[in-house]
Parts: sequence; structure tokens; C-alpha cells
Amino acid sequence: MEETLDVLIRRGRLDDEPHIREFTKHTFRFGDYVGDAFAGWLESGCDVWIAEAGGIPVGVVCVDYPAPREAWFQGMRVHPDYRRRGIATMLTETCIKGARERGAHVARAIIDSDNYRSIGLVTSLGFRQVAEIIEFDVYPELLIPYGKKDEPDYQPHYELDCGRYLTSGLAVTRLNPSDAPEAWSLAKNDVRYIGTCYGQWISLSPDTLQRKAAEGYIIVARTESREIVAGALLDDWYEDHDNERGRPELEQEMTSFFGSVRGIRALLHHAAAVLYAEASKRGGIPCRLRPSVEKQSPALEKIRQIAMVENARREASPAKRQGLPVIETGDVMLLWEYPLGKK
Ligand SMILES: CC(C)(COP(=O)(O)OP(=O)(O)OC[C@H]1O[C@@H](n2cnc3c(N)ncnc32)[C@H](O)[C@@H]1OP(=O)(O)O)[C@@H](O)C(=O)NCCC(=O)NCCS
Repeated sequence: MEETLDVLIRRGRLDDEPHIREFTKHTFRFGDYVGDAFAGWLESGCDVWIAEAGGIPVGVVCVDYPAPREAWFQGMRVHPDYRRRGIATMLTETCIKGARERGAHVARAIIDSDNYRSIGLVTSLGFRQVAEIIEFDVYPELLIPYGKKDEPDYQPHYELDCGRYLTSGLAVTRLNPSDAPEAWSLAKNDVRYIGTCYGQWISLSPDTLQRKAAEGYIIVARTESREIVAGALLDDWYEDHDNERGRPELEQEMTSFFGSVRGIRALLHHAAAVLYAEASKRGGIPCRLRPSVEKQSPALEKIRQIAMVENARREASPAKRQGLPVIETGDVMLLWEYPLGKK
């Protein structure tokens, strides 16, 4: 019979960090980000909870509050030797209690669709799956520039906010917060959550859209008469050193697409061009744009159409390496919600 385990749940402290690093270093095949993130969580005022057994940290989780009344649970980890003994359950229950005390009405978490342990955990606690997020991989060096300068699709603009009209006849710029109501009237048809797969998701509302625009994360495609025809959230780029390909790569997430196929295509081309230019500046480091779309969103079909067109174009082009898809479907992430009451 397994001995009973005395577990204490308490707030995190800076001196927990070496223990967290040690027991999380092999969480996934390529390591873990939690050891690096831990000090930042403490500094930024998140709720950081530790499970301690025999005086030593064996579990950790962080709760952030990315929008009023919305809690975000992230970085749940339990020491491999202490799993399946109810520690993550205790930590989650503490997160729920703490989030209620801070006035949140809903808690959310995102989980890889193949993480059966974590899915088992949230299901057993009564979380509800609210979205399936389909990720895509876009390889900018295959997507842009399309060809030679005299070819009709050549896109020489490598800066966001260049304010110039691309060959699609659309200009791509960051959304001015004062134009958020116009974007909202389009976005509300296609988007329910706004955020990133490696960050956090919040509910889309006129306020949250405006807030993300003020932070500079919303880009839009406009016609010459300045009408907004599409938009998306474009996150900061980051250098990923722990990936399956075993070489550093410049990556950038793009999510929450709304609007027309033509507009979304212009946004993808433009973001790919800017990312490619940055990767070239860094000595030609490989780069990958990572768009993702909610399965329920009409934008999913639009991205699939764009992928078909782009892949067919590349196949037909003698200048490009054939057999490599420009845009391919990647992982699936699941967004979960736990209602905390008081709507
Ligand atoms: C996911 C994780 C945090 C669970 O921690 P834990 O302390 O073992 O979880 P608990 O003992 O509280 O388990 C609660 C429930 O989750 C489910 N669960 C946990 N581990 C499971 C497993 N290996 N297989 C199936 N279900 C599992 C079960 O429903 C379990 O209830 P039960 O034991 O009564 O059947 C832990 O496995 C872990 O650290 N995994 C690696 C990191 C990770 O994937 N984090 C989540 C990222 S989103």
C-alpha cells in the first residue's frame, strides 16, 4: 500500500526556483520553460502556488489575470515521482479559490490535444472544453518573396505600417485603437477568444479588442478607401531554441483572424515578409510563422483555402523547392474554461 503523503500548498518564493528547475527539466522531450518563467511570475504579481512534500517543492502552478474578471491557469507541473497522488488536483483547487477571491468570473487554461494527463485532470475537476485551436505552420522563405521583381506577386515591403498598398491592393497596418469599433463589427462574426497558444486567451469584446490594438498587437488589411477588410492578432516574435528540429528558429504566432479571404491572405503574406526580413537580419536563421484558428471560426476554411492555393503555386513554380508545403497543418490545442460564478 502506498504511504500517505503530507502535502502543503503555499505561495511561491524565489528560493523555490532551483527545485522547480530541477524537477521540470525533463517535463517534455525538449525540456520546459517553467524554470525560466518562475521568477518573472513572482515579480509580475501572479498567484504562484507551490505544493511542498517533506519540506521540498514538488508541484507548481501560476494564475495570471489577463483581463478584468478572467483568470488564466498556466505552468502546472508535478514532480514525476509524486504524480497521481492528487497534488495537481489540490493545486488547481487552490487556484480556483484564489481566483474567486480576486473577483474572477471565469478561469481558462490551454492544453495540447495529446496531453492526456492534463486533459484527465481538468475533466475530473469539471472544466469544459470551449474551443479547439488548429495551428498551422507557414514557412516564409517558401512563401515570400514570390519571385523576381517583375513578377506580379512580388512583395517588396518588409515593414509593418509601411502604409503602402501591396499587390493585393490592400495596405497592412497596425490597428489604431480609435478604429477598434470598425474592426469589432467584422471580428465579432469570426472570433470568440483573442490571445496566443503559447500565451493566454481572453474573451473577445469591444474592450479587449481595443486593448490589444492599443498594445500594438492587432494588424488589419485596408482597401484604398480605408475600409478594413480583415484583421488578426500578430504576437511578438521569439527565438525558439528547444524545438523538434534541433536548431534555433525565429517564430511568431498569429491568431484571431477575421474578415475576407483576400484580406487574410494579405495579412499572412505581409507578416511572413516582415518575419523573413528579421530572420535574414539575424544571419538567415530559419523562421516560421504560426497562425492558429479556432475550429468553429469561419476563418479556418479561409486559411485552408489559402494554404491550398499557396501550396499549389509553389508546386507550379520551378524557382521553389518542390515537395515542401508552404503552409501545413500543425498541432491542435484545446481551450478549457471553468466558471467561477457571478456573471
Ligand atoms: C498533468 C499533471 C500536472 C497531473 O499531476 P498529478 O498530481 O499527477 O494529478 P492528480 O494526481 O491530481 O490527478 C488528477 C486526475 O488527473 C487525471 N490524470 C492524471 N494523470 C493521469 C494519467 N497519467 N493518465 C490518465 N489520467 C491522469 C486523472 O483523472 C486523475 O484522477 P485519478 O488519479 O483519480 O484518476 C502531471 O502529470 C504533470 O506534471 N505532467 C507534466 C506537465 C504537464 O503536462 N502539465 C500540464 C500542461 S497544460
